Amino acid sequence: MQFDTPATSNPIDQLKVVGKPIHRIDGELKTTGRAMYAYEWYDPAVRYAYGYPVGAAIAKGHVIFIDSAAAKTAPGVLGVVTTLDVGDLEKGKLNTAKLFGGSEIQHYHQAIAVVVAETFEQACAAAALIKVEYAAEKGAFDLRAEMTHARTPDPSTEPDSSAGDFQAAFDTAAVTLDAEYSTPDQSHSMMEPHASIAAWDGDKVTVWTSSQMIDWWRTDLATTLGIDKEHVHLMSPFIGGGFGGKLFLRADAVLAALAAKAIGRPVKVALPRPMIPNNTTHRPATIQRIRIGAEHDGKITAIAHESWSGDLPGGGPETAVMQTRLLYAGENRMTAMKLATLDLPEGNAMRAPGEAPGLMALEIAIDEMSEKLGIDPIEFRIKNDTQVDPENPERPFSHRDLVGCLTLGAEKFGWAERARPGARRQGNWLVGIGVAAAFRNNLVMPSGARVKLDRDGVVTVETDMTDIGTGSYTIIAQTAAEMMGVGMDKVAVQLGDSRFPVSAGSGGQFGANSATSGVYAACVKLREAVSSKLGFNSADVVFENGDVRSGNRIVPLAEAAGEDGLVGEDTMEWGDLTKTHQQSTFGAHFVEVGVDIATGETRIRRMLAVCAAGRILNPITARSQVIGAMTMGAGGALSEELAVDTRHGFFVNHDLAGYEVPVHADIPHQEVIFMDETDPYSSPMKAKGVGELGLCGVSAAIANAIYNATGVRVRHYPITLDKLIGDLPDVA
Ligand code: MOS
Repeated sequence: MQFDTPATSNPIDQLKVVGKPIHRIDGELKTTGRAMYAYEWYDPAVRYAYGYPVGAAIAKGHVIFIDSAAAKTAPGVLGVVTTLDVGDLEKGKLNTAKLFGGSEIQHYHQAIAVVVAETFEQACAAAALIKVEYAAEKGAFDLRAEMTHARTPDPSTEPDSSAGDFQAAFDTAAVTLDAEYSTPDQSHSMMEPHASIAAWDGDKVTVWTSSQMIDWWRTDLATTLGIDKEHVHLMSPFIGGGFGGKLFLRADAVLAALAAKAIGRPVKVALPRPMIPNNTTHRPATIQRIRIGAEHDGKITAIAHESWSGDLPGGGPETAVMQTRLLYAGENRMTAMKLATLDLPEGNAMRAPGEAPGLMALEIAIDEMSEKLGIDPIEFRIKNDTQVDPENPERPFSHRDLVGCLTLGAEKFGWAERARPGARRQGNWLVGIGVAAAFRNNLVMPSGARVKLDRDGVVTVETDMTDIGTGSYTIIAQTAAEMMGVGMDKVAVQLGDSRFPVSAGSGGQFGANSATSGVYAACVKLREAVSSKLGFNSADVVFENGDVRSGNRIVPLAEAAGEDGLVGEDTMEWGDLTKTHQQSTFGAHFVEVGVDIATGETRIRRMLAVCAAGRILNPITARSQVIGAMTMGAGGALSEELAVDTRHGFFVNHDLAGYEVPVHADIPHQEVIFMDETDPYSSPMKAKGVGELGLCGVSAAIANAIYNATGVRVRHYPITLDKLIGDLPDVA
């Protein structure tokens, strides 16, 4: 099905099942431990062997020699596969850094060997016996030091944009801001580590893994192993989080496949937690300069956003300026991205790539600018709202309710009570509130599904879509139930198997809208098959309460299926609506913090997000996405930072002891409100994404709340107490 005109009314609009707060259908499997994650796949007839990976101890250079003699004779060891043994392997298309094979080292902890043994402990112990000789080379590891060498990245990344004459307008503006902000390297830190089990059957391999994008992985694994894609079977039915870290093929899958081939038995490989931050990808650090010029009345006349980031040769920029192209009005504007070559591990997508770090800077700048103007920051944002793409004013937004989010949030949160900076004190706590806008584009991806109706009237959906903890199983079941007129108890959902139709996968907050649209398309086909089998005119057929009705004929769906059942299969493809209309999601984050006047410690007291993201398919799963994202934003504001060793080129705090993500005690109270809206330009579901929107702007709202509490403006994340303490008011 091609979606190229705005949706009109369709069976989803009945909202008998879609839009309802239904608990996730995979919840019981997960809470009872019966959902088997990648490392847990278990067949009692199989004797699994355990692979333990070894990572490079240099950031750049070559491996000269690997001495694995001692490891090979260690107790329980079945084999050792080294990067020198396998020689150069072809790199998958989507990875910048190679994952394994050959002598070249591109980054610290790049996989150089896997030791396979009867038990995990034996493999781990033997891996410690591997000795490696390197020829190390000098690398570039310090973004700030490399800023001056940064270049304009590949034109495909659309690095520059402009409209009007920024410089002239900025030079003559009544009130101006010119400030620099920075965001650190961040690690996805998902709960489930990257893990794979590989089993060969002749020249075919089956890999149970933890992947957001089944077809991307399948293609790149086949390329790397040098085998036919048809000979790779990938399974990833349950995933313990990804956040972008599992978008692209990872070393565990390659090592498991090579090790299993080498020893002739199925092999399990998990990346040990301390190897993950340097072995896999991360969100690259940014340095951002923002300039804004406005009239005294608060109208923005000039806005510029430049961002510097780094990556390995062949990599791309962190696209931190993207939201500035669309969020606020202003006739004269420019954005630019510069990319430095760094020999740190590969930088790549992490939840809301671009917008998340971009808004961390932009939304502080907006707060600073409103203060300079003496205008309330909410009023300032509303004054500069735009219903069209400000760089291309003939392009309207499909639907945009940023103003609604800000005004409703202000009312619910008690914005009117906000005091001036540093003026509210409760005992040892300086208390303040802050706001930031949320913005994330709504992307769509082709997505396929197969829907089967069996003789018991059960509808089974098959698609290679993944559920990374987001609720895909549940919203897909709701979609099929609504379309086929059955209850949730009559729907089964099978996901994450490369034998199923290729879906959108999970990423870029495109999964929910795209994948359910694919299921919608397949259900349309199945409805046609049912109608035609019954000789009904499909135009007036109603699917309701497990029956099919046309005029006064009613047939139970089970009967229509017949003994052999019926199947509908289709892929949702997308026309030009994302080009003719700017499709984005919007929100407003409100945060109250207390900052300890003596120690500078920040405690978040309450958070509110108001989101405008089209139809909400399931308010429970959508809310979970947003509160999880708000929590991630708290980490981004206050604690998360990969510390770069700029001499040796690696992330020092490469485990969950040193890389601090928020815990329950850090998040006292969260509320989420969804605007009641639909966007007919987005899909027949009229839905958009929320999984990344929820993160966008949160950290800046916290930064702004800290400023309101203390009067101390911090522009460099994370806002740790050392950045506050020197400037806090004297303790009275
Ligand atoms: Mo997302 S960073 O595309 O999983």
